[in-house]
Amino acid sequence: MLIKRRSLLSASAAATSYFMAKAASAGSFKGDVELRGTIGRLERIGSLELESQQDFLTNFRGWVNNDFRQAAQQRAGDIALAAGLDPTSAVDYQVAAKLFEKDPVIAGYVRTWVSNQLQTWGTIQDFFHSNADQYYSEMDAADKLGPGKLEWDGKMEIPDYTKHEIHIQPGGYVGDPFAGYINFYGVNNFYAGKNFQDEAQYAIAKAVIPPKDGKVKRILDIGSATGRLTLQMKERFPDAEVWGVDVGAPMVRYAHVRALDLGINVNYAQRLAEDTKFPDGYFDLVVSYILFHEVTAEASKKIISEAHRVLRPGGVFYPVDFPTGKQQSVMTAYNAFSVWWDHRWNCEVWALEYRAMAFADEMAKRGFAVDENIPQARRGHGKLMGTKIT
Ligand SMILES: C[S@@+](CC[C@H](N)C(=O)[O-])C[C@H]1O[C@@H](n2cnc3c(N)ncnc32)[C@H](O)[C@@H]1O
Repeated sequence: MLIKRRSLLSASAAATSYFMAKAASAGSFKGDVELRGTIGRLERIGSLELESQQDFLTNFRGWVNNDFRQAAQQRAGDIALAAGLDPTSAVDYQVAAKLFEKDPVIAGYVRTWVSNQLQTWGTIQDFFHSNADQYYSEMDAADKLGPGKLEWDGKMEIPDYTKHEIHIQPGGYVGDPFAGYINFYGVNNFYAGKNFQDEAQYAIAKAVIPPKDGKVKRILDIGSATGRLTLQMKERFPDAEVWGVDVGAPMVRYAHVRALDLGINVNYAQRLAEDTKFPDGYFDLVVSYILFHEVTAEASKKIISEAHRVLRPGGVFYPVDFPTGKQQSVMTAYNAFSVWWDHRWNCEVWALEYRAMAFADEMAKRGFAVDENIPQARRGHGKLMGTKIT
């Protein structure tokens, strides 16, 4: 039995042949993938048992993120006070780690969070691996179809710094052929069930401030992952040519499958954000969402320069990520511990060096007029845009 397909089935010849390829591969398929339909933009995962398990993990994560976190935070406050620390002033990461990591409530909270994340990834990865033929066929069939373009290269040289298992996703973004599928469904748990309809990316696309002259003919989304923001940018600017680039071939391949499913004409390419291969001045808008804390500080600087290169004069760079520089809140003992354990136990390898950068200053040094007083696109994230001036 084949996974889904939606009303697109009769929409175009290309889509029809895509689904016929799927149907053909389903004939020889001996696995456990069910045709389970969609809920709005969300294609339901191909097994009711797995969906139920994910529901449990997602709700459990909601409890960990709220009640359990509050208990840990309260406890951290008591421990910091007993250690004579001012709860409102900044504390070094290592000091915070030493203070809290052996406390049973705080360590229990972190361990529960991490175990939930491992369980989420593991169960989803098992499912896609167990049904590998099916999902390889899906990507192979989709690769050749449009309207949107897809470019990827199995021989592309992948920088080592991108190979870590970020967020403890097994295989990371580049090391598992189904990384896109796994990431898409796993990340739904991260959002505690609140992003099934791409609500976060919708809000960001809506908040993007276009160039002053209003001209938006071409848009680039860097670090596009499964393409959720890329799609939303196209929906906001339907006449624009929209590209998403990502270092992971599995990410852009899945993003393309999803764009076909939703019938949205966007293009994806496996490329480095620091070397996108587009001509100088090609884009009116360059956007990103939570890319920069996943790359080294050195790569961030190169990526800012690349965004500047591919923008036309007056074009806008709109990166959304965690706050840095003067927008960052004080690293109190609990805040420092939160960032530290996320780095150490959630494999946020580059997050500490990202947070140590003054991102706005790096943009200004590279020829952007920076505005940090724009409306916040997403709670907990920075407010930052740059207009190319030189
Ligand atoms: C957290 S995800 C981005 C989420 C995505 N923007 C969204 O809207 O859901 C980070 C992505 O950045 C990609 N990435 C990391 N380093 C990169 C680089 N140097 N060039 C391009 N993509 C990169 C990863 O492969 C991953 O897919």
